[in-house]
Amino acid sequence: CGIVGIIGRDDVAERLVDGLQRLEYRGYDSAGIAVANGAGIAVRRAVGKLDNLKSDLKTDAPTGRVGIGHTRWATHGGATQSNAHPHKVGCVTLVHNGIIENHWALRVELEALGVRLSSETDSEVAAAWLDQLLGRAENLDEAFQQLLDTLVGSYALAVVFEGYPDLMFVARQGSPLAIGYGPGVEGGAAEIFVGSDALALAPFTDQVSYLEDGDWAAIRPDRVEIFDRQGAPVTRAVLTIAAEDSVVDKGPWPHYMRKEIEEQPESLGRLLGTLVDPGANALKPLLEEIDFAAADRIILLGCGTAHYACHLASYWIEELARCPVEIDLASEYRYRDRPLTGREIVIAVSQSGETADTLSALTALSGRVAARLAVVNVPTSSIAREADAILELQAGPEIGVASTKAFTGQLMALMAVALKAGRDRGALCDARLAEAITELTSVPRIVADTLRLVPAVETAARRLAEASDLYFLGRDVHYPIAREAALKMKEISYIHAEAYAAGELKHGPIALIDEGTPVVVFDNLGALHEKTASNTAEVAARGAEVVRIGPEEGAALRTPEAGPHATGFAYAVVAQLLAYFVAVEKGTDVDQPRNLAKSVTVE
Ligand code: G6P
Repeated sequence: CGIVGIIGRDDVAERLVDGLQRLEYRGYDSAGIAVANGAGIAVRRAVGKLDNLKSDLKTDAPTGRVGIGHTRWATHGGATQSNAHPHKVGCVTLVHNGIIENHWALRVELEALGVRLSSETDSEVAAAWLDQLLGRAENLDEAFQQLLDTLVGSYALAVVFEGYPDLMFVARQGSPLAIGYGPGVEGGAAEIFVGSDALALAPFTDQVSYLEDGDWAAIRPDRVEIFDRQGAPVTRAVLTIAAEDSVVDKGPWPHYMRKEIEEQPESLGRLLGTLVDPGANALKPLLEEIDFAAADRIILLGCGTAHYACHLASYWIEELARCPVEIDLASEYRYRDRPLTGREIVIAVSQSGETADTLSALTALSGRVAARLAVVNVPTSSIAREADAILELQAGPEIGVASTKAFTGQLMALMAVALKAGRDRGALCDARLAEAITELTSVPRIVADTLRLVPAVETAARRLAEASDLYFLGRDVHYPIAREAALKMKEISYIHAEAYAAGELKHGPIALIDEGTPVVVFDNLGALHEKTASNTAEVAARGAEVVRIGPEEGAALRTPEAGPHATGFAYAVVAQLLAYFVAVEKGTDVDQPRNLAKSVTVE
């Protein structure tokens, strides 16, 4: 979920929606705003995408200079109007991102007091609890602090109160929250903004401070007072954020996803420019603060697509840097009882830099490993700020929920890490390093050439769109690509798709293959070519309709000739295009597929 808040000089409804627009990547099950004025607090909520709320507001926008807004990814309670935020109970109206873990216990107590709740959410429970506390506490501050002492779980909260049209309370525990300062904050009559991330605040200000866990703040038009968990006043540094305020549009493309797929030669070229000096055919100075030579293990963590980038990079790091690698899903790693030596280098990979599972895994490793590197697309993100060093993907804003240009950027960045680690560890001789850099430099061109396959992929996709089940096979470095291909297909076409390591199929999953079952195979180059060919023959013999992808003559989708490391980039692009055109054929919502959020900010 994403939250915004504004204490403004003029009506805020429209600007709240602007802020929410930039947070829609956090969920689009419902959206809502609440605006306070002298007459009270008006709430508007709509199920589904922000556009639904926008169209309601066209005829019925509330007026007022103070307001809060929310875009929801449903956790407790379905995507309904009554579960949409803001939640108003008595004098309290609030928006919440996170999960209140003790909400059942609080709900029971509230019900015993005769409080009737109108939603199934944990968030409304927090609103009702605060409303109860207001009746008993000396003042608003005391009540709010008592609320925070009671809540267990994670939250970013923004609250407005009936009868206090110039006041907003906010709090942060586990879920990020930033405060933005409009011009003139010292001299009064300023505007103050609140948002889940700096991106939401970018249209309004570039002066931002981040609350720390346990912090809460009372915000008035002329001042912001921040307190820590114990209620002691604290100062949080105000940073100038490089405002990414550009309006992102689709250009000539029908969907953001297609635009972002087509942008890859450019985005990868941009990233390459930060990693490699093409004149010298050498790595640029990179991550100097990390001592790869002393590492005894590299641990790669991420979720979804980012996890598959980690999976592929694990092959490269082992091969090129001769360093043991461990990969895990961030949500699993977080709660494993893991033996650590303190000499590990941890790499958290995340497009948004806001995924809660990845963030909490990274935070849990603070002080326990040699270094924590973040490979992110958003340098102001929570994960970037938590890490000891960052490598930025340079992909530009990625709007389509299914990650494309960020994925190939992650691969390129992690390949550079593998090369840098290999060099530092003495695992790569100069000639081999130079060869690998030449190969990496070829990637933008290989990707551009791969995009010429669009008409052929479109034709293949028309047939695949009729399938109810789809299988992707890959071996070695192409197995992670097969997994990413299956994820892409599931995410946007809703077709059941699974990936298997080509050699594993015969150990069980081959039972699923029937006459006409589509199986997409990513061919191997070199020594493993024949092995994958045999596995392909095994499924073909059982009636599978095989779609072979590779540089060889005879492949259904013939990718450009490329080196062993660059081939994966070409395959990734074919996988993206296949999922995209199958989804278009099926008429699904490509950019905002059902049930998903671009980044999930609850664990
Ligand atoms: C969500 C998205 C996935 C994405 C994952 C990780 O689950 O639906 O497409 O890969 O988050 O996102 P991140 O921003 O951390 O890369």
